[in-house]
Amino acid sequence: MAEPLEILILCGSLRLESVTHRALEEAAKGAAEAGGVPVWGDGWVHRLPMCGTAPSGDPTVAEFAAAAHRASAFLWGSPEYHGTVSGLLKNALDYLAFEQTAGKWVGLVATAGGHQGAGATLITLRTVARSLHRWTPPDQVSVAQAERALSSEGAFTDPAVAAKLRHLGAGLVGAIRRFRDPTLV
Ligand SMILES: Cc1cc2nc3c(=O)[nH]c(=O)nc-3n(C[C@H](O)[C@H](O)[C@H](O)COP(=O)(O)O)c2cc1C
Repeated sequence: MAEPLEILILCGSLRLESVTHRALEEAAKGAAEAGGVPVWGDGWVHRLPMCGTAPSGDPTVAEFAAAAHRASAFLWGSPEYHGTVSGLLKNALDYLAFEQTAGKWVGLVATAGGHQGAGATLITLRTVARSLHRWTPPDQVSVAQAERALSSEGAFTDPAVAAKLRHLGAGLVGAIRRFRDPTLV
């Protein structure tokens, strides 16, 4: 049987009604529909000590490293904070090492309060991905004007945004498969 294509999802917002988290949920739905297995990294991201301060053998660090190692691909999502990635997500990314990440794909999502969207944050995430020797698909999703992005039921007010997010998740699974078997189109 083919091994499960685990997608480790790392979200850079702790807010209960986080738009970034909802955006990642939509992308995860697309990945699951395409055969991926979403694994939420929230439990680790929220508990990781500041990078460089963890005592040796810290169990959260060890569990996070094992999950990153197992993952076939990653989904990273961040709110734009002062033109860049949130500290919460950056701290988690700082724990990642080449041996857990090289050659793996990472899908990128970012949200912003402003109408210009989170382009600067996406560029930064792409730079981090490259520094970790990862592949990023050409698609990425920026959710602008985050306060207006969701209805009171938590659905995306613009169905095109939800569709783009699901497409991103499905595309990530497609990228892993094509990378493993270039004869697939
Ligand atoms: C500390 C901080 C800095 C922010 N900086 C920006 C910014 O530079 N540009 C922008 O458009 N929105 C900015 N925002 C708004 C957030 O990007 C926006 O509310 C985001 O989508 C919230 O994500 P969340 O709902 O997942 O927490 C900032 C918000 C905070 C709390």
